[in-house]
Amino acid sequence: MNLLERAANRRQAALVELDTANQVALGQFFTPVAVAQIMADLVHLPESGTLRVLDPGAGSGMLSAAVVDRVRRERPNVRVTVTAVELDERLWPALTETLADCESAGGVRTSLVKNDFVQWALHTDERFDLVIQNPPYHKIRARSALDADLRSAGIAVPNIYAGFMALGTLLVNTGGQQVSITPRSWMNGTYFGQFRRTLLASFGIDAIHTFHSRSEVFGDLGVLQETIIVSATHGSQPETVRLSSSVDHRDAPAARHVPASQVVTGDFVFVPASAQDAEAVEWMACARYTLAELGLTVSTGRVVDFRAREYLMQEPSDGAAPMVYPANITQQRVFHPRSSVRKPQWFHAAETVHSKLLIPAGTYVLVKRFSAKEENRRLVAAVWSDDSRQPAFDNKLNYIHCSGHGLEQQVAAGLAVWLNSKPVDDYFRVFSGHTQVNAGDLRQMRFPSLDQLRRLGESTHDPEEAIRRVMGMTRMEAA
Ligand SMILES: C[S@@+](CC[C@H](N)C(=O)[O-])C[C@H]1O[C@@H](n2cnc3c(N)ncnc32)[C@H](O)[C@@H]1O
Repeated sequence: MNLLERAANRRQAALVELDTANQVALGQFFTPVAVAQIMADLVHLPESGTLRVLDPGAGSGMLSAAVVDRVRRERPNVRVTVTAVELDERLWPALTETLADCESAGGVRTSLVKNDFVQWALHTDERFDLVIQNPPYHKIRARSALDADLRSAGIAVPNIYAGFMALGTLLVNTGGQQVSITPRSWMNGTYFGQFRRTLLASFGIDAIHTFHSRSEVFGDLGVLQETIIVSATHGSQPETVRLSSSVDHRDAPAARHVPASQVVTGDFVFVPASAQDAEAVEWMACARYTLAELGLTVSTGRVVDFRAREYLMQEPSDGAAPMVYPANITQQRVFHPRSSVRKPQWFHAAETVHSKLLIPAGTYVLVKRFSAKEENRRLVAAVWSDDSRQPAFDNKLNYIHCSGHGLEQQVAAGLAVWLNSKPVDDYFRVFSGHTQVNAGDLRQMRFPSLDQLRRLGESTHDPEEAIRRVMGMTRMEAA
């Protein structure tokens, strides 16, 4: 048996020792040997000297073992020091054995830090060439002691895994590297914005590995998160990023290099699975403004139909407001009332309820929050326009407005053309890992300027041709 096989056996044995409650609390999902090898293969090995390795939340030591195994095979002359930090005392015996096993490979010194990684990281003076980690995963409560400790180091994150990653970046030397396996959520989540910006300000992403099947990687442990391996190196962003993927952790990864502009943008980190995805990301660079920068806001419809049953009516009556559902939208237009919609088409309530649930008369862009299977677009938008009646919007719709009031007609028409277009839909698929269209997603996306939206709204061309013309002008203007 070699070092890795022995580490894999210890992983199994260590897992048996854990109880499920603690396993969840401490995020004890141990890296399978094949995944550890994929991670170790991303490490930039020096030609000589010493590689100083940090393994935060080391578990049974699988990641350290994988790095040592590779260094011993490929750089027999390079010395390695390993610092493994682990909080759970039940794992110390297995980890101690793995570290001893690493030392017996020769040229390796190890130390086990029996401590909380956050506390240790905030106080240590040690620095490393490589941080390799599979950090624990759990939410951080706002204003908890952990939140306060991380904030004391300038780290504001909603999940401990990002806290470990952020601390890892503070502990690498100039030119050092961090390879981590984590959920994908940090790449575009709103709450990870500050973390992303700080990371990308001093680190360049050189490689990303994805798994096609989210259930397989930690399948033996029942983890269904979408998991991603990222290698980031201290310094500026390299011109290309190596993207690789495997179906699960058992097959050989297929890799390609893509321009960094298709992966790392000012706002997000994308993982374009194909050349078409990559083009969609690059194309979107032509749009520069968030809705907020355009003075616009997106909200979710206020009426939850099953809670408002008493106000919903099949027939209009004096003072009834139009009640609009996703099913009222077809072929990018709103039809109201629509006989094929089985839900009551009218809303009637006392003034106090009206003022809470209806919105001022005017022009709005409605965006469906859920796409039906038969729809070939994720983004489905339509303009609602009525200057005399206050509408009620179902909460399965998002609506774009201007400080609670209606939009200018041409801007609304332009927004609908934009959101319904194929390039924007293609982009949305790369950007969002899920099928829902949340208000938060729309807040994060980029849009043309108000003037460009007006021109799109006025255009009588085929919508995609109109976008090419209007946005093409931007490129020329920008040049
Ligand atoms: C996802 S597991 C990964 C273990 C190991 N690195 C691997 O890849 O198999 C996370 C590990 O972090 C440990 N851990 C959780 N919270 C910790 C903390 N605050 N400080 C140090 N270790 C912690 C857990 O006990 C667990 O062993």
